[in-house]
Amino acid sequence: SGGLQQAKLVLLGDMGAGKSSLVLRFVKGQFFDYQESTIGAAFLTKTMPEQHVKFEIWDTAGQERYHSLAPMYYRGAAAAVIVYDITNQDSFSKAKNWVKELQRQGNPNMLMALAGNKADLADSRAVTKEEAAAYAEENGLAFWETSAKTNVSVLEVFTDLATRLPRP
Ligand code: GTP
Ligand code: MG
Repeated sequence: SGGLQQAKLVLLGDMGAGKSSLVLRFVKGQFFDYQESTIGAAFLTKTMPEQHVKFEIWDTAGQERYHSLAPMYYRGAAAAVIVYDITNQDSFSKAKNWVKELQRQGNPNMLMALAGNKADLADSRAVTKEEAAAYAEENGLAFWETSAKTNVSVLEVFTDLATRLPRP
């Protein structure tokens, strides 16, 4: 049919990794050097007409005190983007913990993408592309290094997920 498929998508990852910045770049084409830390979660939608998909996006808060809210946002999600900051090894560890939690408690058919964000800061890199790609491969995740700031591979992450959604 020519109808739109609605799909719930959740972003998870450490505070400051760039979840909100990726969503804002994708949905509104904007970027802010002083993006405010998310409180609770933010909801945005984005229609991808060519894929016949309307994403209903939950941009969660990475601060530890919000961790217990996360299941409300990933429950029933068709897709998840797990974000880390390539300049921060701890954010990569936290991304792996999110993947584990989704594997244990998420929808078993959930599509997952791993986004190594802040690729524009490669001079301060702490996580190699090879290490992250190997981890993603082992766990069946799509993997991209992204920059919300310079708009690298942001559209690709969401387009790839939209293309791979199971059709109802
Ligand atoms: P929480 O809401 O606290 O969980 O953080 P978040 O993951 O939403 O991160 P946010 O998008 O707020 O970005 C944190 C900081 O990193 C902000 O100052 C952004 O401007 C910056 N930032 C985000 N993406 C990029 C990027 O690709 N490159 C660079 N250089 N900075 C970025
Ligand atoms: Mg945020």
